[in-house]
Amino acid sequence: MDRDTTPAGHVTRKTVLRAALAAGIAAPAVLMGVPALARNLTDGATPPPITPECHDGDAPTIEQMEGPYFKPNSPLRTSLLEPGTSGVPLTVGGYVFGRACKPIPGVLMDFWQADTNGAYDNTGFRFRGHQFTGADGGFKLTTIVPGLYPGRTRHLHVKVQAPGRPILTTQLYFPGEPRNNTDSIFDARLLMAVRDVGGGAKEAAFDFVLNIAQDPGPSPTPTPTATATAPGGTWAVGTAYRAGDAVTYAGRAYVCLQAHTAQPGWEPPSVPALWRAV
Ligand SMILES: [Fe+2]
Repeated sequence: MDRDTTPAGHVTRKTVLRAALAAGIAAPAVLMGVPALARNLTDGATPPPITPECHDGDAPTIEQMEGPYFKPNSPLRTSLLEPGTSGVPLTVGGYVFGRACKPIPGVLMDFWQADTNGAYDNTGFRFRGHQFTGADGGFKLTTIVPGLYPGRTRHLHVKVQAPGRPILTTQLYFPGEPRNNTDSIFDARLLMAVRDVGGGAKEAAFDFVLNIAQDPGPSPTPTPTATATAPGGTWAVGTAYRAGDAVTYAGRAYVCLQAHTAQPGWEPPSVPALWRAV
């Protein structure tokens, strides 16, 4: 079973959406589609990047502390690059969904981060900016890889707010960072999928799920199964896993993508940055 299907074998709405976007098809029409359409699109399209999946009923993106460096009134801009900016170029892209995996347009996303040396601009607005998701619920931030500062692993800060809804404040993380293992705030559920794109630049992907009820409409609804949410298998909290380790969880087999010690909330289906279904 590939990672674009639920344990019950259904294609997720997010997969449908990603396939549609890759194929240049308007999202709303595709979201009204059926699994066969999604499969046909997926078969002919470039596989979507590995990101946290948005299954129906999935837990929303978790909150994290704001920290001491947020400032209101950031500039409206999708690029935080300014003349003379140094650092590793980074783009961060993805979508904002509600609980039924439908994209949400017009979502305010306010990003702030350290510069390449690990310093925040607390007097001006360098590496601070807000934007709104497009009609397809998508966003794209152009910036640099943030530097490290004492006590923390590498991270981005963001506030995400759908129109008229509460603010989700959280942080995003980079896979493979040594300090991910020692930063008590780090949470693997907030790992971005990051890849090198040449020229020393990096491209990251992350999709947010806001705790907003949505009418699931006529799209395919996965059939709940007894094993879809039940714990079990060989995966166990407290175990130190290495890349390549194999486990089972809720009747499915997974392979570990990067070394970590298992924690509650990091069950393999919840953390695709750590576990890939096989
Ligand atoms: Fe920070």
